[in-house]
Amino acid sequence: MQFTSFLSMIHLHTFLLLLLIFTFHTCSSTPTAESYATYIVHLNPSSRPTPFTTNEKWHSSIITSIKSSATTHHFSSLENSFLYSYENALHGFSAVLTEQEVGTLQNLPGFLSANKDKQQRLLTTYTPEFMSLNPTTGIWPASGFGEGVIVGFIDTGIWPESPSFDERGMTTIKLPAKWKGVCQAGKDFNSSLCNSKLIGARYFDKGYRASNPNATLTKNSPRDADGHGTHTSSTAAGNYVEGASFLGYAKGVARGMAPRAWVAMYKVSSVGKKMYDSDVLAGMDQAVADGVDILSLSLGSDDVTPLYENPIAIASFGAMEKGVFISSAAGNNGPPEGTLRNGVPWVLTVGAGTFDRTFVASLTLGSDKARKQHTIVGKSMYPLGLWIKDETLIYNKTLSKCNDSELLSKAPRGILVCQDTGSLSSLYDQMYQILRAATNLVAAIFVCKDPSRFDFDWMNNPAAVLISTKDLEAVMDYIKSSDKPIASIKFQQTATGKETAPVVAEYTSRGPCPNCLGVLKPDVLAPGSSVLASWIPNEVATRLGPNMFLTSEGFNLQSGTSVACPHAAGVAALLKAAHPEWSHAAIKSAMMTTATELDNSGMPIKDAARGFTAASPFAMGAGHIVLNKALDPGLVYDAAAQDYVSLLCSMNFTKNQILTVTRSNVYNCENASPDLNYPSFLAFYDKNVASNGVVMTKRFRRVVTNVGGGAATYKVKVDPPIGSTVSVWPQSLVFMKEHERHHYSVEITYASQGAVSYGSITWFEENGNYAVRSPIVISVERSEMSKLKELSKNNRIYVVSLECPGLIHGRV
Ligand SMILES: *[C@@H]1O[C@H](CO)[C@@H](O)[C@H](O)[C@H]1NC(C)=O
Ligand SMILES: *[C@@H]1O[C@H](CO)[C@@H](O)[C@H](O)[C@H]1NC(C)=O
Ligand SMILES: *[C@@H]1O[C@H](CO)[C@@H](O)[C@H](O)[C@H]1NC(C)=O
Ligand SMILES: *[C@@H]1O[C@H](CO)[C@@H](O)[C@H](O)[C@H]1NC(C)=O
Ligand SMILES: *[C@@H]1O[C@H](CO)[C@@H](O)[C@H](O)[C@H]1NC(C)=O
Repeated sequence: MQFTSFLSMIHLHTFLLLLLIFTFHTCSSTPTAESYATYIVHLNPSSRPTPFTTNEKWHSSIITSIKSSATTHHFSSLENSFLYSYENALHGFSAVLTEQEVGTLQNLPGFLSANKDKQQRLLTTYTPEFMSLNPTTGIWPASGFGEGVIVGFIDTGIWPESPSFDERGMTTIKLPAKWKGVCQAGKDFNSSLCNSKLIGARYFDKGYRASNPNATLTKNSPRDADGHGTHTSSTAAGNYVEGASFLGYAKGVARGMAPRAWVAMYKVSSVGKKMYDSDVLAGMDQAVADGVDILSLSLGSDDVTPLYENPIAIASFGAMEKGVFISSAAGNNGPPEGTLRNGVPWVLTVGAGTFDRTFVASLTLGSDKARKQHTIVGKSMYPLGLWIKDETLIYNKTLSKCNDSELLSKAPRGILVCQDTGSLSSLYDQMYQILRAATNLVAAIFVCKDPSRFDFDWMNNPAAVLISTKDLEAVMDYIKSSDKPIASIKFQQTATGKETAPVVAEYTSRGPCPNCLGVLKPDVLAPGSSVLASWIPNEVATRLGPNMFLTSEGFNLQSGTSVACPHAAGVAALLKAAHPEWSHAAIKSAMMTTATELDNSGMPIKDAARGFTAASPFAMGAGHIVLNKALDPGLVYDAAAQDYVSLLCSMNFTKNQILTVTRSNVYNCENASPDLNYPSFLAFYDKNVASNGVVMTKRFRRVVTNVGGGAATYKVKVDPPIGSTVSVWPQSLVFMKEHERHHYSVEITYASQGAVSYGSITWFEENGNYAVRSPIVISVERSEMSKLKELSKNNRIYVVSLECPGLIHGRV
């Protein structure tokens, strides 16, 4: 099992890497019924007329009343049109309605807004990470390994038989009384499949059925038919799998970030990776009602919507109010700026870093018996100690273009050398074509100028080795000089750890967040890297090479972008277990202010998409999570629901738009302010103003709460962004006791630099116990964001020119 080797890595490295899996099918457009569509209708619960004893009765009576005049149609009856009643994380219902019916709805008391159902996409990635988790010191023992915390997943379901969800060791404490979850039976899934690790599993498919009335669902149960949900949930909270081995790979212990946390799965995708807002919302609503502590959302929509139309933003507000911490993926639409998803102020938005651990393989030219052998070390994704021994080395001008899977299917047995294309995109294509070929080849050799800079996540072809252009010369010389060229490839069991890490992954979506311009996003870089996690069995990941059934033992190594999110969810579970009294904002703050902006060589974290220059906070937020420091951050930036409402109030939304999110009249707009008490600082300038050389000033006010355990004095140190001056006052903060709060003010004076400039403000505890760091970003306001602002009044905005990374890079 893969985790074993990661565990040993964990003692060596400071970070944990993850891979994100990209799924691409969602590049297709949303299907629409001619005149009927599923709508999500938001209502103000305080408007419920008294005769209705339950919200559901109220909601169904609304539909009955608007349907009474309707013609006879498939969707004209209540049974056919009513999907879900929502009342925990949001308020309202989803139903199949005509536009006209929606028009009628708008006159009803309590109506706030109605949005058409849309599809969400999974934002996965597989990426290894390294975090210094230690069973005897630090956050693991301090948190009881996440014991007592319930982590919910809105995902593709779960494979309950995976050893990651075994209940061994889980029975020490009782489920809390608040837990209302169930183990919902369905196809190939019965209620006895849950246990004291997997404590709940449900599925939601009404939205899918409404939009695909003719589809036959074969897996209508919480069972994972894809692998994604099994991977994310085991990444965050998989149990220990002792003595596990992965196709003979080093024996050891597999585990998630919070191995003693409870898992609850809310399956919201019915077929493959398709998922509809109505089902996602139903899953979130139920998870909150059931009593989860943490929610992990490795999904997001293709389009950018204003917060009041964004289902995840809306449902997560209700979840946050009820004390649920939400971790979400930043998306895989990078590297352009402004491509971020889930940039919701009250959730954690996680970007992805690559990992320093890499699998290497040694390619030996010549037979084992030959006296003179030449060995080349290349990059490989193959995690096993497999040895492909004395196979024919093939170089054939036609085949070696490696651009035609049909032709490659006819290749003889052997190790094929693919020619150097000199271009990354055609290298990806070569890998993809070989993967697609039904081939006799046992392995392939790929070539690029500098394999160490190749984004490992996209190497979807495990039985392959990537060598440098320079090393190719030796291979070609050998082939020319030999009548019967032979080579061996030894895939190694251990990672080198020589690479600089973390590096911001090319595909990770970048800030700023288009629908919430005042808050710097993403928040953090994915907790590290190195994820081989549970998968559904019997699903062949890749075909090339012998014994290549990576998933046959129920574990899979993936590359894409949403494994970052469950890593952070697992971290949140550990923090919640260690500090049950912390708010969601305190947990987020602890992760952010202790994150590192440096890599394992002590240099600024680099951005793979920017020529390996230093990454900006739009790529990595506050930096990479450092688990053991997050446990004890010294100070936190707290925020409560009203603080977010004050932010919404500053965003030019109508009252009903705000109510769609808040569903409650308990909040007010008295202190409307774009200046949220957030652990980061973002200052924009208008392009036109800036070009006139105008100097701008932006002020911020922050409140910090002492969680360091007692009296402490902090002094500030500022690293101003280029072209700015930053003043902070007071310059020192003196805390007499735990939980004491102090405020400070920041004034940033800046002029256009024509690019993103960034710096930081750090509060240092005078005895060196704590450093509480916040990034500062100054950036020109981007045109598409201004456009979004313009349109956000009532239209949905589509961000143009988003590529579909999965397809382009041939990820499977
Ligand atoms: C549930 O399924 C398992 C495995 O298929 C089976 O052994 C068990 O008897 C079933 N339990 C119930 C209550 O149907
Ligand atoms: C679904 O089936 C009905 C009846 O067979 C047919 O009229 C309709 O066109 C089908 N819809 C789609 C979207 O295929
Ligand atoms: C190269 O491969 C092609 C396609 O399989 C084959 O037709 C051709 O004979 C091969 N050439 C040599 C020199 O082996
Ligand atoms: C492969 O590349 C060769 C030469 O560059 C080209 O002639 C051929 O059409 C390509 N094949 C495919 C399937 O793209
Ligand atoms: C909000 O609306 C007011 C009045 O319509 C306008 O002056 C202001 O520029 C708007 N602010 C933003 C951030 O769009």
